[in-house]
Amino acid sequence: MATSFIQAIVLAAGESTRFGTKISKLSFSICGEPMVTYPIKLLFRLKIKTTVVIGFQEKIVKEIVENCEVPNISFIEQKERLGTGHALLCTKNSWNSENILVLNGDIPLISQKIILALLKKHKNSNATLSFVTANCVSAASSNYGRVIEEEGKISIVEARNFTGKEKIGQLVNAGVYLVKRKFLDKVLQKIKPNEKTGEIYITELIRHASENGEKVSTTLEPFDSIRGINTLRELLEAEKIKRSEIISTFMENGVRFASAQNVCIDLDVSIGANSFVGSNTTILKGTRIGENSTIFGSSIISQSRIGNDTKILPFSVIENSEICENATVGPFAHLRTGTILEKNSLVGNFVEIKKSTLGENSKAKHLSYLGDTEIGKNVNIGAGTITCNYDGFNKNKTLIEDGAFIGTNNALVAPVTIGKGSITAAGSVITKDVPDNTLAIARERQTNKEGYAKKIREKLKKKSKNTVICATKEKKLEQE
Ligand code: UD1
Ligand code: CA
Repeated sequence: MATSFIQAIVLAAGESTRFGTKISKLSFSICGEPMVTYPIKLLFRLKIKTTVVIGFQEKIVKEIVENCEVPNISFIEQKERLGTGHALLCTKNSWNSENILVLNGDIPLISQKIILALLKKHKNSNATLSFVTANCVSAASSNYGRVIEEEGKISIVEARNFTGKEKIGQLVNAGVYLVKRKFLDKVLQKIKPNEKTGEIYITELIRHASENGEKVSTTLEPFDSIRGINTLRELLEAEKIKRSEIISTFMENGVRFASAQNVCIDLDVSIGANSFVGSNTTILKGTRIGENSTIFGSSIISQSRIGNDTKILPFSVIENSEICENATVGPFAHLRTGTILEKNSLVGNFVEIKKSTLGENSKAKHLSYLGDTEIGKNVNIGAGTITCNYDGFNKNKTLIEDGAFIGTNNALVAPVTIGKGSITAAGSVITKDVPDNTLAIARERQTNKEGYAKKIREKLKKKSKNTVICATKEKKLEQE
């Protein structure tokens, strides 16, 4: 698209009063993607150069936009928030194209198709101003500006300005406008603040164009694609729609779901064919899951790579980790940042792993903490093994080499190395390196005292009788 033909302005300076969070609604995410970045990324895909108007919490909004990997976005500050028309007026000095495309920043479900249809209509009809409309029959429409067509004239009446006398139908204004710059140059600064609210409405441009015989054209789009987000409730509605879109796409690509309505999957997630996702599972941005893998219910996975043929059993939490082919995790496992599970490895119930590698065919099946640990191939980590990696000041490393067997209930005090093929006895506290192929026993030696069990019982019985007698005596004394 020729840049001289069009440039875009995204309005993102508003105060988000109806949102009630005291934080700009534009910074809130929908399926892992901040609301304001939706129109910005879309314009980038369409190769339309974009300026964002910021104002309320401008640093937060600017940082989000700068981090969204869209290059060459420019920003203009609207110091006082005097309405959408005023926001556009603030960008006047940046206008250098024939047409200005204006988008509200709070319409995340807008699609490329809608913008392209608007451009086409605008060009073909040689309109001065074109804008997007939708039919809304539900109560949701009460928050939108209504499109009113009377005696060949078209205008918009804002919800806040309804007097009850307008003949309002179901047609609402989407907040997407394409306007000839020449017209804007002439008219925008003449728009007066609304008498009731004091705001300068961008929508007044439509009334003005229509009243002055300028050509105004509209495109009609589905309401769900143009939903504006003013409240937390509307945010939830929009996220529901986006989520179901994401899940539908996965299903089209051979991913099975136990119950699609109870699964949260962000954008920027991939799942391979014939994988399965259970109920109540959350899969966050940046996660890659291979083919034929099973993610059972109630797990949370973020920023992780999960290979083919893996099994993630219920209630597992996996963050910034890599799980290779055919590994099994959970139930109730917690894999923290920097965990790598190599091929065919197994992590079981109540195991927490941090910044550690578990080698091929190695297992940690029950109740363990493994931190800053390098574990080789074919290693067995016994139930209740804890790596003591932190001395209050430093994090120290544990190295467990190929084929080692760590007995149940071991404390491995790092820094420490367990050599190849070595065995540590159950209940050991290992403080020194164990050479290869060695049995390390680091616990008190057991002594058996024959016949002592009986003696102890008798002693204890006697003691408990004396206690009863004493208690009875005390009671009697109290009564006297
Ligand atoms: C606006 C339209 C309404 C339309 C609806 C569609 C106006 C007057 N009304 O209403 O006809 O049906 O969108 O969703 O435009 N903003 C600024 N500076 C300001 C005020 C707002 O940058 O001074 C930004 C907001 O951050 C937001 C966008 O403009 O991204 C729209 O503002 P908002 O207050 O949400 O307008 P609506 O009341 O929804
Ligand atoms: Ca809005």
